[in-house]
Amino acid sequence: MDAIEAIKSRRSCREFLPDAVDKAVIKDIIDCARFAPTGWGKQPWEFVVVTDKAMRERIAEIAYYGRFIAQAPVCVAVYCRPTTFYLEDGCAATQNILLAATAHGLGSCWVGGDKQEFADKLHAPLGVEEDLKLICLIAIGHPAKPAGKAEKRPLAEVLHWEQFGRH
Ligand SMILES: Cc1cc2nc3c(=O)[nH]c(=O)nc-3n(C[C@H](O)[C@H](O)[C@H](O)COP(=O)(O)O)c2cc1C
Repeated sequence: MDAIEAIKSRRSCREFLPDAVDKAVIKDIIDCARFAPTGWGKQPWEFVVVTDKAMRERIAEIAYYGRFIAQAPVCVAVYCRPTTFYLEDGCAATQNILLAATAHGLGSCWVGGDKQEFADKLHAPLGVEEDLKLICLIAIGHPAKPAGKAEKRPLAEVLHWEQFGRH
């Protein structure tokens, strides 16, 4: 699958088969994350990969908008050190993870963390240093059904040539 196909076919997946994801594939997905651009080249990120079922259930309980993390065989917690552009950097890495998962034929879903009140509650269970910021949690696994078709605003509406409003 090429990059354009991965970008255009990716959709959030919230229902997963119980099958484990190959460790080499998980490593490749995280490897793709670290190639994302970062402000001033800081690379402030750390990626905590959780496959343990009990821990995923605990995460799903705390991060209540991501209950499906309990069923996904892999959960990646994306953290960043509090640099100036930590959020942009963490989001760029997150998108790389979603696209790499798609290219590997896996489903995934971004669960927001940075602005959620539960963000700091995951530090202790995951053994993360207090000053790190939770960017998001990403559920990854083999999809239980074909990806949904979330509507996207049409290109003609969002593309402005030279000046806003010129379609
Ligand atoms: C910053 C951010 C936070 C999100 N948080 C959640 C979440 O907590 N739970 C969830 O099920 N989906 C979450 N999503 C996924 C969005 O709901 C999803 O991307 C959106 O509905 C568009 O669908 P698509 O990903 O299939 O294109 C989040 C996405 C982003 C970018």
